[in-house]
Amino acid sequence: MPGTGIRMQRVSYSVGGREILRDFDLTLEKGVDRTILGVSGAGKTTILKLLLGLMPADSGSISIDGVEISELPEARLREVRRPIAVVFQGGALFDSMTVGENVGYRLLEEGKRSEQEIERVVLEKLGFVGLEDAIDLYPAELSGGMKKRVAIARALAADPDYIFFDEPTTGLDPIGVFNICDLMRRLQQQGKTTLTVTHDLHTAFQVSQRFSFLHESRLVFEGTKEELLAADLEVLQEFLTPSERSLFRFTGWVGADHETK
Ligand SMILES: Nc1ncnc2c1ncn2[C@@H]1O[C@H](COP(=O)(O)OP(=O)(O)OP(=O)(O)O)[C@@H](O)[C@H]1O
Ligand SMILES: [Mg+2]
Repeated sequence: MPGTGIRMQRVSYSVGGREILRDFDLTLEKGVDRTILGVSGAGKTTILKLLLGLMPADSGSISIDGVEISELPEARLREVRRPIAVVFQGGALFDSMTVGENVGYRLLEEGKRSEQEIERVVLEKLGFVGLEDAIDLYPAELSGGMKKRVAIARALAADPDYIFFDEPTTGLDPIGVFNICDLMRRLQQQGKTTLTVTHDLHTAFQVSQRFSFLHESRLVFEGTKEELLAADLEVLQEFLTPSERSLFRFTGWVGADHETK
């Protein structure tokens, strides 16, 4: 379909006097899953927030399914980004709500469906992530991996075309990582297009066909896995295979918090 997909063109963004993005380009075509790679603090989460219109870019263009989102009134923006759901870094579940309430929250707020219908959707989405039995638990009672799965179920409730994943596997054990990557691939098979941001290469390669690499505010690479591995780009090589020199190459490393979240 012409005009579909999500696009950033020459987007620049600074915050607190610090340049996060400069002339950043991104294309998420329907059906072509992409991962944006970059070190911690590079600006990956910022890209997702800009795509959602949560804050305006300083310059450049951002469009969702052919509609330019800068300067849209709030109500229209909500409508335009309706095909997008986000699985936030850390899950971002509401602690005071049960798992079921978390998953059904957006549908309840929209007020278009009956309670029974919402319950049916909630059970179906929780079934997809294998957590029907957790429906009455609170987030505090869940493991990190379970929280991520609930966050995925919540994202699915609104039947999105695009799902953004912010560090979907960070902090999980290998089985948890496998589980989340498997869920993501099953979603892709169902026709959802995913945009993942992560510093984890293993996850990136499991779930995407295209890769963007963000370094020092700029897009320094865009391409396939094969192209990524073969790229003759020193910063990329340092990212793929870190060495002592990487400590100095990546700005913000010295003194920065590089704990995984
Ligand atoms: N409101 C803000 N005020 C000042 N600086 C900010 C603000 N929000 C983000 N930043 C800075 O912008 C940079 C990019 O942040 P962002 O969260 O997008 O990075 P990230 O690539 O997602 O990192 P991580 O991998 O750790 O999640 C960081 O250096 C952060 O400190
Ligand atoms: Mg982030």
